[in-house]
Amino acid sequence: MDDLKRAHNTENITQTGNSELMYSVRNLSYKYPDGTHALSDINLDVKKGEFVGLLGANGSGKTTLLRAMDKLLKGVEGSVYLDGIDIRTLSPKEIYRKVGLVFQNPDDQLFAPTLFEDVAFGPANMGFRSKEVEERVMNALDEVELTGLERKSVHNLSFGQRKRACIAGLLAMGHEMLLLDEPTAGLDPMGEYKMMGLLQKLNREKQVTIVMATHSVDLVPLFLDKLYILSKGKIKRGGAPEEVFNAPEDMANIKLRLPHIAELIYRLKHEDKLDFGRIPLTIGEARREIIKTMEKKES
Ligand SMILES: Nc1ncnc2c1ncn2[C@@H]1O[C@H](COP(=O)(O)OP(=O)(O)O)[C@@H](O)[C@H]1O
Ligand SMILES: [Mg+2]
Repeated sequence: MDDLKRAHNTENITQTGNSELMYSVRNLSYKYPDGTHALSDINLDVKKGEFVGLLGANGSGKTTLLRAMDKLLKGVEGSVYLDGIDIRTLSPKEIYRKVGLVFQNPDDQLFAPTLFEDVAFGPANMGFRSKEVEERVMNALDEVELTGLERKSVHNLSFGQRKRACIAGLLAMGHEMLLLDEPTAGLDPMGEYKMMGLLQKLNREKQVTIVMATHSVDLVPLFLDKLYILSKGKIKRGGAPEEVFNAPEDMANIKLRLPHIAELIYRLKHEDKLDFGRIPLTIGEARREIIKTMEKKES
């Protein structure tokens, strides 16, 4: 039945080109040449304008999945549809025009001597005149808050600045879809917060659709519309963050924990039998739930 439903979905997508979906991954499996089963029967949808997270422990398959979505792997089983079109039928150039992949390590991505030259490389290669290239670079640098550092050597930028420089390089080409591999990994707590704020702004104000891999459970999910939990190459859960985080036992099984605040309220509810309705993810929500519960007790 499940398979039937999936087949039906797939048919719809190929026939009509579902305009709502930016990405649709169907029954995707992948084995590395050395025999490692990195992905098994992955199904996921990304709507246009969505901000989606892939959450999983190290080795769960996040990077492999992003690479498969960018058609960088050979011998993938199953299908990936980009804007309703099977990516097998798209050339690297056609994919590259629409989708930008940001590597986890900025040093694998940046290569030009100065920040300006690095960000300018993409649009210059796309054939824009130098005036237009300059405009695109300056706008992109403004969006990632690196204005003023154009002439600086990329080696002398901080790690967080280098991560933002990679994003600017893709924005300058006008990507409507970004795949980001652990954009907050290696940043300090304030850097992580700022990076998520920046991505949220790009998503909301510039309508950039974003899929990001992460292993951060406390901060990142607060910014996301939808979250898929990956474990050992399989998707274990998917949905809005508050739906996904309502089963701590499940999370422990896949080497992740609940966000701290959710864990506290979950324990108060189940172990101390306090009358909480829902499990909050933020301090603000938790505060409201605690006050509500106290008021109920007093009345
Ligand atoms: N080039 C490779 N060759 C063989 N196995 C790989 C390769 N890259 C990753 N793997 C394996 O595939 C699995 C998924 O890895 P990866 O996608 O990098 O996970 P994550 O990004 O979630 O840490 C792991 O078991 C990893 O060891
Ligand atoms: Mg990875």
